[in-house]
Amino acid sequence: MTSTSIATAAYLVAALLFILALAGLSRHETAKRGLACGIAGMVVAMLATFWLVADLATDDSLVDSGGGLSIALLLVAVVIGAAIGLWRARVVEMTGMPELIALLHSFVGLAAVLVGWNGYLEYDDLSRDNAPTLLHIHDAEVFIGVFIGAVTFTGSIIAFLKLSARMKSAPLMLPGKNWLNIGALVLFVLLTIWFVADPHLWLLILVTVLALALGLHLVASIGGGDMPVVISMLNSYSGWAAAASGFLLDNDLLIVTGALVGSSGAYLSYIMCQAMNRSFISVIAGGFGIEAPASAGDTDYGEHREIEAEGAADLLAGARSVVITPGYGMATAQAQHAVAELTRQLRGRGVEVRFGIHPVAGRLPGHMNVLLAEAKVPYDIVLEMDEINDDLAATDVVLVIGANDTVNPAAAEDPSSPIAGMPVLRVWEARDVIVFKRSMATGYAGVQNPLFFRDNTQMLFGDAKQRVEDILQALARIPA
Ligand code: TAP
Repeated sequence: MTSTSIATAAYLVAALLFILALAGLSRHETAKRGLACGIAGMVVAMLATFWLVADLATDDSLVDSGGGLSIALLLVAVVIGAAIGLWRARVVEMTGMPELIALLHSFVGLAAVLVGWNGYLEYDDLSRDNAPTLLHIHDAEVFIGVFIGAVTFTGSIIAFLKLSARMKSAPLMLPGKNWLNIGALVLFVLLTIWFVADPHLWLLILVTVLALALGLHLVASIGGGDMPVVISMLNSYSGWAAAASGFLLDNDLLIVTGALVGSSGAYLSYIMCQAMNRSFISVIAGGFGIEAPASAGDTDYGEHREIEAEGAADLLAGARSVVITPGYGMATAQAQHAVAELTRQLRGRGVEVRFGIHPVAGRLPGHMNVLLAEAKVPYDIVLEMDEINDDLAATDVVLVIGANDTVNPAAAEDPSSPIAGMPVLRVWEARDVIVFKRSMATGYAGVQNPLFFRDNTQMLFGDAKQRVEDILQALARIPA
């Protein structure tokens, strides 16, 4: 058996492990097993790559051409990459995960651009004259790979800036923005035809600049509420960028893995668009057809009412049913353990407690589910938005813990709202609503929330973790 066929067999095993990883990650109960499959797949893939490079290094005909240097460089790259990866994984806060993921997507995009450029530069004029037909295919791969990679690179950087609040989350509304995007795509198609027919370095430079600008504009044009879809779309683009690199490097595993990431990311974006009542095409086309919102959301809704921890504990102690709707604020406050303890205490008193999870609560798909699982909240009381929404009208008390956009009635009731049409948790239908937050500030989408001014809503100001702990203390003083 040759080294290449051993490596190909190993790549096949790795690809199967990646598929098992995706399947495992689709459910809480199997997520850890899925993760283990993913890690095992990556180890097999890296060992196979080392095997191939080491084989090249010992090939007498190649020793002089730098085979030994290749393996040394590979080792150095793996050690540096693993050290940075381990350090980031240890220090990253759960709330910082979305921007870290966006940054990692940008690296995949940048790698695809570099592989594409290398793919062009390594072919000199002589090899072009020897195999012209194959080179047309190769040139198309280079051009398309560089384009997808560059769009992913700048798009992910903008997503990183928006998610880490280094840039405004409001959509950029350039005049004729839809035509700018369409024009860029048409220009890309024309340039690709030109490049395949007559490759020139300046064409490659032009498409790189065009794609960098398009990625920047596509993501900057998306408003806060639609960012979750953009993140999963960038995940998908990074997969296609990796697959494009796989074609150039003649690496089957990269093609398969890239296609897996690309298609699963695209499917996740599609599901998210359905859950958010958004047009898939509109979002991936940089908010195509979405015009500037008619209202800035600064309507005067009147006065809000406040409640203290003792009052909240009284309401909870007297309730038969309680629904908790957590949001990004629960993650920043790291309040999940206190919330889990409150859940245990209330259930111990015979109160029915359930959780209502909005598909885009927090900053990451499944963000709230991960936090609640970490705090050991039983899975069977954690329900999706569609499973809980019809029960909210018959609920005594809803605790909105650090959620804002995902419980905003304007999405359902005000067609001029920037988040109009987005399905939300209808918490205002409950008998009493207590909102935990630190101020009257808006949520991620920057939209005022009329829920805070409703007659049945009371605001409990302060850090969510601190306030839940205060309620626990007050509850301990109320006889069961
Ligand atoms: P948000 O609308 O972001 O609101 C979170 C609220 O938490 C804020 O109003 C904030 O109010 C409060 N808060 C922050 N820190 C707090 C603390 N320590 N204690 C108490 N409250 C705190 O949250 P949401 O309802 O979860 O909605 C998510 C938003 O993010 C949506 O617009 C969604 O589209 C977007 N988004 C989601 C994702 C994914 S995939 N989930 C990705 C990107 C963007 P104060 O400042 O007044 O405390």
